[in-house]
Amino acid sequence: MSQQPAPNATAPKEGPPPESMTPDAEAEAPHLDFQGTTPYEDYVQASVLTHLQHPLSDDPGEMVFLVTTQVMELWFTVIVHEWHTAAQALREDDLPTAMAALKRSTYELESLNSSWKPLAHLTPGQFNAYRSALGDGSGFQSAMYRRMEFLLGEKSASMLVPHRGAPRVHAELEKALTEPSLYDEVLRFLARRGFAVPAAVLERDPALRYAPDPGVERVWQEIYSGPGPREDELTRLGEALTEVAELVWRWRNDHLVATRRAMGAKTGTGGSAGVAWLEKRATKNVFPELWTARSHV
Ligand code: HEM
Repeated sequence: MSQQPAPNATAPKEGPPPESMTPDAEAEAPHLDFQGTTPYEDYVQASVLTHLQHPLSDDPGEMVFLVTTQVMELWFTVIVHEWHTAAQALREDDLPTAMAALKRSTYELESLNSSWKPLAHLTPGQFNAYRSALGDGSGFQSAMYRRMEFLLGEKSASMLVPHRGAPRVHAELEKALTEPSLYDEVLRFLARRGFAVPAAVLERDPALRYAPDPGVERVWQEIYSGPGPREDELTRLGEALTEVAELVWRWRNDHLVATRRAMGAKTGTGGSAGVAWLEKRATKNVFPELWTARSHV
């Protein structure tokens, strides 16, 4: 955001620069005077962001648990934005815009996954120090994570139930449930490009969980086997989606392992069986046919 002074290409390599070449310290210093809040604050709203941390216990280790969760919520928000952009672009047959958004989302997923570091080695004792203060609160109730899952095709109307008391969040989730997922848009796009995506898949109810289809597997098999430029381009799309799928799977696994370390086989604060429940969630394949088609190429 701040402007870097241009490098002085003519400065001598050794000794002090002549008087005439000394940078005018005052002219190059950043602005200090602003009428109201700084433009940085107006844009970033850092004072809002850095006053949203209200730990529920006295344990000093709770702060990083809370902030990591907030950081992940922000990454979920960016990733949902990228996948929306990609889905919209595919709807308009604009592959380059979709590819750029998917690519950005893979870098963001990597940053999201790196955020596990501070929580990945919690001992049960460290976690217990603030766990009871969390009450019934659980990441399971994250609406933005749910939107991510809906965009991936993991739809479930029952996941709206916890949000009945929050009309705006509920409405956003309901919209995300009923509109086509990112993968639905990919398959419709492939159909318009001449691939034999089964009609039952194209006309499916988008509010239902996506179920793997042998016809779709054959489409990916054809794309990955094909020699032509059309197949090359669509293989790159397939690989970008595979990267997304792998990184989501990694997030789920890192979460699972962190949970196993922090609380063993205890039940979760959200009321689930804990690790056993998360293990099942982690076995779900994102974009399933992109994985199974590989056996036939
Ligand atoms: C080491 C710390 C953590 C532990 C021990 C833990 C534990 C759990 C458990 C047991 C569940 C299952 C639902 C339940 O009964 O509560 C769950 C779900 C979930 N947690 Fe965590 N969690 C941790 C950190 C986080 C963080 C930092 C996030 C970031 C937002 C998060 C997001 C989620 C989400 C999104 C789910 C639902 C997953 C799904 O629907 O498949 N968790 N967590």
